[in-house]
This record gives sequence, structure tokens and C-alpha cells, in this order.
Amino acid sequence: MRSYSLIAPGKINLYLEIIGDRPDGYHQLVMILQSIELADKIELRPNGTDSIRVYCNNPQVPSDETNLAYKAAKLMQQQFPEIAANYGGIDITIDKQIPVAAGLAGGSTDGAAVLVGIDLMWDLGLTKPELETLAAQLGSDIPFCVRGGTAIATGRGEILESIQNLDDIWVVLAKYRNLSVSTGWAYQTYRQKFEDDYIKEENEFQNRHQEIHSGPLVKAIIDQNHQKIGNLLYNDLEKVVLPEHPQVNELRSALINTGGLGTMMSGSGPTVFCLCESKAQAEEIKHKVQDLMANPELDFWITKLSSNGIQVAESS
Ligand code: C5P
Repeated sequence: MRSYSLIAPGKINLYLEIIGDRPDGYHQLVMILQSIELADKIELRPNGTDSIRVYCNNPQVPSDETNLAYKAAKLMQQQFPEIAANYGGIDITIDKQIPVAAGLAGGSTDGAAVLVGIDLMWDLGLTKPELETLAAQLGSDIPFCVRGGTAIATGRGEILESIQNLDDIWVVLAKYRNLSVSTGWAYQTYRQKFEDDYIKEENEFQNRHQEIHSGPLVKAIIDQNHQKIGNLLYNDLEKVVLPEHPQVNELRSALINTGGLGTMMSGSGPTVFCLCESKAQAEEIKHKVQDLMANPELDFWITKLSSNGIQVAESS
């Protein structure tokens, strides 16, 4: 059996609107998801035992059965028990580059890479839609992480429609090192505050989906109008995360005031991103905000939008 090394890109949300509740306890969403080049590297090796073992260079990442990479391997064993018994256990090594609990799908993309990698290791020949269906069982963002690029996501976030790729835009990411936000907390708090405004009717959900398809942000993406894309960024979860974490709000204001195409918190945060026309502009903005905030706990990354989901780096 071969070993595989995979590239697992993170994501940002260019748009995140919460439109209602779902019978399964999740929220009905309308999002535009976008891959970024900042990526984890995942290695999968047969280990000659019956066990799944997870190793990670970042101590913040659990290496037990709560890790999405572990859960993804377990799901594959459950789905294909005879093949799994034949091939035995797997060592999963995560080279963590994406910040943890940051709204960048770092854990989700590791899970997506394990699904893609095991499909190859076990020679299962699963199609992309089959992999995405398995991915949806693990988490709402994981089908997108398998696919990558630029996509409208509806339902829980697992129903995807790819649109025009956007890969010629640079991004500054900024995050306070010891600050993390639980996605569950962000959505539950949103429900407590805004439940009364939720859409209740199924046909109204459909109308909202249609509106985003024909709306200005999708049009700006299709037209590759970077300025308009920057102006139309939107995230409902800012309404609960920013009041709870004023320093994230200040960081967001600082990034807005230093220029760039547009600034927004990604997903449930607390990472704030700023879209830029060039690498030079991204570096200038990073240095300005670094000087302004003067906080050694504030980390920055410069990356680019990407049109890729999970990629195989090498196999041996
Ligand atoms: O699907 P995932 O495990 O990534 O979701 C994490 C948490 O975020 C869920 O437990 C739920 O509380 C919240 N969530 C939600 N509606 C969604 C996606 C996530 O309420 N569409």
C-alpha cells in the first residue's frame, strides 16, 4: 500500500448569511466559500497495526478521536470494513500551518484530506460527489474543503455550486494567538439574539438561495470586479463575535482604515481577513496594522485566494 502526502487548503467566507433554523438543529445558510493557499500538509502511511494514530506539530490540536482527521479515517473504516481490515491501520501526520479554531476550516480541511487520501490508498475509486457526500457526514464545511475554489454553499453549508474561480487576489489574515471562537457557541448565540428574524417558510429559503445566485456579489465574482467584491463582503456572525471580543472589532477597524479591497471576519472568527490587489499591498497593510496595534500576540499571514481543494503532493 502506498503512502500519500496531501495539501489541505484553508478557506475564508466571502459571504455568510444565516437565514433560518433546520429540523436537525443546524442553521440554514447562504454562503460564498473561497479557498486560500495557506494550507496544512497531511501524510498518510500504513502503520501495520489495526489503529488510526494522529500526530500533529501543534500541541493545540488534539490527537485523539475528537480530531476530524481521525473521524474521517474512522468513517472510511466503517464504510468499507472489509477493505479496511485488509489494509490495516493508518498513521496520519498533520503539519499544521492554518491557525486553529480560527474560522478558516483548519480542522475540516484535514478531515477532507484524509477522505481523499484513503480513497487513493485503498484504491476505492470514489467520485468527487461520493467523497463530498461522505464529507457532509463529518462536518458542514468539509464537502467544500474536498472541492475547493469558489462556491455558493447552501443548506448546512454542504450543498455546493462552484462558480467562477477567483485566484488573483492576495489576502492578509490577522488573528490574536490565544483567542479562539467555538463555531457552536457563535451559532447558538446568534440563535438566542436573532431567532425572531429567522425565515420560517421553505419557499422563502428557496427565494433567498435564488437571490444570492443572481445577486451583486456573485455578479462581481463572475465579472472579476475586485473592488466590488471587497465592498460586498458580508458575515452575520460578526454580530455576535465582535461585541463579545472588542479587540477583534478594533483589529477589523484597523484593517479597514489601512485600505485594501475589503475586510471581514472569516466564518465564526476570530480571524479577520483583508483582500488586496497585490502582494506588495498586502505586505504594506500588514506592516501598518502591526505597527498600529503593537501587540506581540497578534499574528499575520499573507496568502492568496486559490482555486484548489485537496491536492496530492506526492505518493510513494
Ligand atoms: O458542522 P460543524 O461540525 O462544522 O458545525 C459546528 C457547529 O456549528 C454545529 O454544532 C452547530 O452548532 C453550528 N452550525 C450550525 N449551522 C450550520 C453549521 C454549523 O448551527 N449550518
